[in-house]
Amino acid sequence: MAKLLLLTLVGLALALLRDHRASYQKRMNAFREVTPMDLPNCHFIKGINSGAEDLEILPNGLVFISAGLKYPGIHSFEPDKPGKILLMDLNEDDLAVLELNITGYNFNLSSFNPHGISTFTDKDNAVYLLVVNHPDIMVTVELFKFQEREKSLLHLKTIRHKLLSSANDIVAVAPEHFYATNDHYFADTQLQSWEVYSGVAWSYATYYSPENVRVVAKGFDFANGINISPDGKYVYIAELLAHKIHVYEKQANWTLTPVKSLDLDTLVDNISVDPVTGDLWVGCHPNGMKIFSYDPDNPPASEVIRIQNILTEEPTVTVVYADNGTMLQGSTVASVYKGKLLVGTVFQKALYCELEQPSAQPH
Ligand SMILES: *[C@@H]1O[C@H](CO)[C@@H](O)[C@H](O)[C@H]1NC(C)=O
Ligand SMILES: *[C@@H]1O[C@H](CO)[C@@H](O)[C@H](O)[C@H]1NC(C)=O
Ligand SMILES: *[C@@H]1O[C@H](CO)[C@@H](O)[C@H](O)[C@H]1NC(C)=O
Ligand SMILES: *[C@@H]1O[C@H](CO)[C@@H](O)[C@H](O)[C@H]1NC(C)=O
Ligand SMILES: *[C@@H]1O[C@H](CO)[C@@H](O)[C@H](O)[C@H]1NC(C)=O
Repeated sequence: MAKLLLLTLVGLALALLRDHRASYQKRMNAFREVTPMDLPNCHFIKGINSGAEDLEILPNGLVFISAGLKYPGIHSFEPDKPGKILLMDLNEDDLAVLELNITGYNFNLSSFNPHGISTFTDKDNAVYLLVVNHPDIMVTVELFKFQEREKSLLHLKTIRHKLLSSANDIVAVAPEHFYATNDHYFADTQLQSWEVYSGVAWSYATYYSPENVRVVAKGFDFANGINISPDGKYVYIAELLAHKIHVYEKQANWTLTPVKSLDLDTLVDNISVDPVTGDLWVGCHPNGMKIFSYDPDNPPASEVIRIQNILTEEPTVTVVYADNGTMLQGSTVASVYKGKLLVGTVFQKALYCELEQPSAQPH
């Protein structure tokens, strides 16, 4: 009898493990291979070789890039170097990046580990840069003011809060007001891989202002990118391991009301929003296994999708660029400016492409 019970329990455990394994493989999209989708005019951006995890383009063509992320369990080509913020000007013919100097008291440059970034431009055209930082595997949000003439960032403030304890990405609505996703990856360094493995969906989004901090959406299986529509009415959240983009309506009191969700066949990382058309551009990982365990012989692929008319019954989803990792590994973010596309990656290079072929010169 006892033996029978034992056999039943072993059988049950094996069945649970099998189901869990199947659901883990599904969450990771473990069997997905990409069909390459080339763009005719792409170049690597000189000077970026250890990641461009996040980037944001200002309306005048200046780009801020967060580079050199160290993320537990994820590959890095420069594990001993602090991260940095790079600047690039898309109006120049020969694109080059410049490392921004960081000034200000009490800012530890040697532990700078920038992750998601967001900018805010005030009515006097002052530009603020908000950066999710992981100094020594902790989590802070750093507020900087961009000094354009000096090409530097003045550090103004470090923000810490228990509802930002595992912040990943951020979208600013004022210098000290923002929404952030918490991926729950940094919540407990011992448990982090267990959480990703088990799929407990403890990840959430927070609204932060100096007077009021609260959870505005929760129950995500790794909430990742977050962004806002050009009219400020909708907030978009990428749920990495559920392969979904969620749309929320932003209320006057900053509460988020669910509107709809879009299912995709890829791990959705960052969302950027075209300020002109409102289209969403998403940097994606087609197959999560390859990003979470790096193998140079079988590198993670890259995929960029564009979502048009997300609020309508039938949004148009287009794969604009896809590569099996031969060129570009582990894309996280894609953003457009005047017919040009920038694609960043977790730990490798960044790509610059012309979306439209220059029209033939008239004779
Ligand atoms: C950054 O600071 C260093 C040292 O103070 C200086 O030599 C360098 O020129 C500065 N870079 C820029 C772009 O201003
Ligand atoms: C700055 O960060 C480094 C690297 O993590 C650390 O060793 C050092 O103690 C920090 N310095 C201060 C003043 O906190
Ligand atoms: C891009 O993704 C990273 C997280 O993987 C995040 O930190 C960053 O802020 C995202 N950028 C945008 C524009 O959403
Ligand atoms: C915010 O506003 C919404 C819609 O008006 C309301 O349902 C919600 O209770 C409010 N929440 C808070 C925290 O004030
Ligand atoms: C990726 O695609 C290229 C051609 O586009 C091919 O040569 C290469 O073998 C492929 N690599 C993998 C890992 O599938």
